[in-house]
Amino acid sequence: MSQKLSLQQTAINTLNLNDRGGFTIPTAGLYPYQWNWDSAFVALGIATYDMDRAWREITTLIEGQWPDGMIPSIIFRDDNPDYFPGPSRWGKTHGAIPSTGVSQPPVLATVVRQITQGSKGIARRAEVFDAIFAWHKWFHDARTASGIVATVHPWETGRDNCPEWNIGLDLMEVAPDLPPYTRMDNKHVNPHHRPTQEQYDKYLTIVHFGDGIGWDQRRLTNEGPFLMADPNIHFVLLRADKDLLAMAEEIGEPVETCEQIRAWIAKGEAATDYIWNEELGAFSARDIRTGKFSDGFSNCSALCFYADTGTKEQRARVLAHLQRVENKVSYMLPSWDPDAPDFEPQRYWCGPMWPQMNYMTALGLEEQSEPEMARTIRDALNNAIEKSGFWECFDPLTGEGCVGANFSWTAAVWLSWQNATKLSGAA
Ligand code: DGY
Repeated sequence: MSQKLSLQQTAINTLNLNDRGGFTIPTAGLYPYQWNWDSAFVALGIATYDMDRAWREITTLIEGQWPDGMIPSIIFRDDNPDYFPGPSRWGKTHGAIPSTGVSQPPVLATVVRQITQGSKGIARRAEVFDAIFAWHKWFHDARTASGIVATVHPWETGRDNCPEWNIGLDLMEVAPDLPPYTRMDNKHVNPHHRPTQEQYDKYLTIVHFGDGIGWDQRRLTNEGPFLMADPNIHFVLLRADKDLLAMAEEIGEPVETCEQIRAWIAKGEAATDYIWNEELGAFSARDIRTGKFSDGFSNCSALCFYADTGTKEQRARVLAHLQRVENKVSYMLPSWDPDAPDFEPQRYWCGPMWPQMNYMTALGLEEQSEPEMARTIRDALNNAIEKSGFWECFDPLTGEGCVGANFSWTAAVWLSWQNATKLSGAA
């Protein structure tokens, strides 16, 4: 009990430490700016003790929105030498604040719906509705390819170096005119926890291409060097569209707006089959140009429950994978298949367990009447935090913390789980 109480205080202290006055950085040094989906999870945690500050996290994130509706993955309010690639490398982007030229998994609508209730909550939902609607519209218009919302950069998926992307990255050449650069990430943390140099060259090649076309998002999707379907973006957006529709109905948005969101949901439901890998018996990433699937079970493969999509048979096969993986690791849910040859338990998205993924996966399983697996996934993260502290991610074999320490979304997920009843009165 006392350890729990002190972890509660350490979690709040971690979020205070990373507070930059209205927005929260993920962790000092490695990630010194406001990151998109990090901020959404941070708001979820802060809402358990300071709703006004949680709301500020959301509105500062929206300040970075582009005129075309995109909310970028990183908002650069200054030029911090700790981070590469910073604003100068991304070039002339389109928002009022310098930013990256790609987005991130849109968890915001789901978080807004979760933390706002009552009459004040309705007013808050109405305050951000148009911005979130415009962002979802951007995904459906500018990022759709082959009927599914696609991704143009592993950074956009939030799962940077997951081996899922190798089939897309292997098709790419590094730009011959790629300007030289010095990485900073591997100076802040153990370089063996980070992506490889070859991967960075490809990440920077996509940035170079985007800058070269003036960040025209439709061209980036159609002509860019990388185009894959990501189960994370697909399931997160489908769930967020459903939450957006519920909010639209509650706040009395016009019928055409609700109809538009219903059409996105129907499109999303139809696209779920596009990422069903029959041979694997699970949802996996797919290269849109070649049609090729990645061949491993990742920690977004089971987000079909969170999005409430997929057939009964597909869900049963996904559950069977979860049971297989559970027998291989001590801390569910690894980001990459522990039976895959390229599983690396401490290297970023090649194996570690990630707090925000455990949060979404457990929530979905619980909502869809799979409480046992949901509990396993929640307990695993709580146990790793109790053992090691608020790390960015954790070795799924040992529970050891990996990559960044004092990490905001880990503190936020902990707070949200420990204070679930307080949250419901938070708005
Ligand atoms: C990084 O710099 O590692 C980030 O994940 C990019 O968003």
